[in-house]
Amino acid sequence: MNLNSILPSDFKHVWHPFTQMKTAPTPLAIVKAKNASLFAEDGTEYLDCNSSWWVNIHGHGHPRLKQALVEQFDAIDHVIFAGVTHPKAVELAEKVTNLLPDNLQKVFFSDDGSTAVEVALKMAFQYWHNRNEPKKRVLALDGAYHGDTFGAMSISQRGYFNEPFEHLFFLVDYLEFPTKEREETILLEAEKIFCTQEFAAVILEPLIQGSAGMRTYSSEFLEKLVIMAKSYGVLVIFDEVMTGWGRTGELFAMNHIQETPDIVCLSKGLTGGVLPLGLTVATQQIYEAFLSEEKTKALLHGHSFTGNALVCAVACANIDLVNEVTFKQNVNRISEQHALFKERIENLENVQEVRHLGTIIAIEILQENADYFSSIRDQAYDYFLSIGLLIRPLGNVIFLNPPYCTTNDELDRMYAGIEGFLKIV
Ligand SMILES: Cc1ncc(COP(=O)(O)O)c(C=O)c1O
Repeated sequence: MNLNSILPSDFKHVWHPFTQMKTAPTPLAIVKAKNASLFAEDGTEYLDCNSSWWVNIHGHGHPRLKQALVEQFDAIDHVIFAGVTHPKAVELAEKVTNLLPDNLQKVFFSDDGSTAVEVALKMAFQYWHNRNEPKKRVLALDGAYHGDTFGAMSISQRGYFNEPFEHLFFLVDYLEFPTKEREETILLEAEKIFCTQEFAAVILEPLIQGSAGMRTYSSEFLEKLVIMAKSYGVLVIFDEVMTGWGRTGELFAMNHIQETPDIVCLSKGLTGGVLPLGLTVATQQIYEAFLSEEKTKALLHGHSFTGNALVCAVACANIDLVNEVTFKQNVNRISEQHALFKERIENLENVQEVRHLGTIIAIEILQENADYFSSIRDQAYDYFLSIGLLIRPLGNVIFLNPPYCTTNDELDRMYAGIEGFLKIV
């Protein structure tokens, strides 16, 4: 091993996320990142096929994001956001609301995807509380993943990920995942649930569930469910933490339908994946339910780093990049390449299904009783590393959601790698 390696010290002091530290292989020590590439201590290059946990939409080291960060540091690094405001937070709120439908106008700042979801839940529950119509239940979708804090875990799929905490979760009903043939039945089920008038909100990963294995469902179903929820006065929350910023081919998944949510959660690509930030954007109507002479009717929530100026500056620079024509061109280009790759592999014997939406392509490998911890996941992960691809499968689902700067040659390396794995599995 390289004598200057960081690994012995990592082993001694670091506790990694989502990792069984006893059995996990040695982590990859990355010392440099540029565009779609990551470089390890020993100089090996890896393509960042999943945009480093789905966040680095422009790839690594973008000069415009760097410039925004450096310039902001000279102006304000950080300032308390209660009782204080600053130019970059205001600019960001303006820029984000300009991209969203007209009804989504009020922006609340937090730190990441999970906290954006926590805030959305608190807004929804307190909205009804402030109106003296307390509603205590939430509807979510089977297989959902909304984050790892307690509220977010409560509304996510229950199972081995959160079993030790289950006794602490609040009341959530789950709607069956809407496969095409079951859509109408599930909508009837949803109507029965909404009819009870006990539901504060329904929360959805619109069109595609990420952690469940990049599972897609139809925009027709989504539209009908939103219309129905609204007709019963149930608040609609879209968790666009994963789907936002071009991932589904449109800027946001909500752009695939006419209806709009009451609350949307944004994170991941919001800063180009460079710094952590969560935003929860709500309608004027929700906001107004918190206006009162009584201080306790306010949204009494905040974090030390809420509205951090460096983060806001980078997010503003990200949105400037998103508004440029090359952004859409790259999203379309990657989507077209994925479509061709899908055609090439979807009929292979060991392929159960290929799901493609925008810049995401997921290949479900045929396997009995597959789950998140399937051994095929480790086999695939190791295989891809051995050929210079960093791909982190979800159980038996191999997927690509690369940075938008990924070239067609780099995409071809990713596709060839997956085809190579499909030949040996
Ligand atoms: C749809 C969705 N919501 C929320 C989260 C949680 O985001 P974070 O990991 O930034 O807390 C994730 C993370 O993958 C996600 O995919």
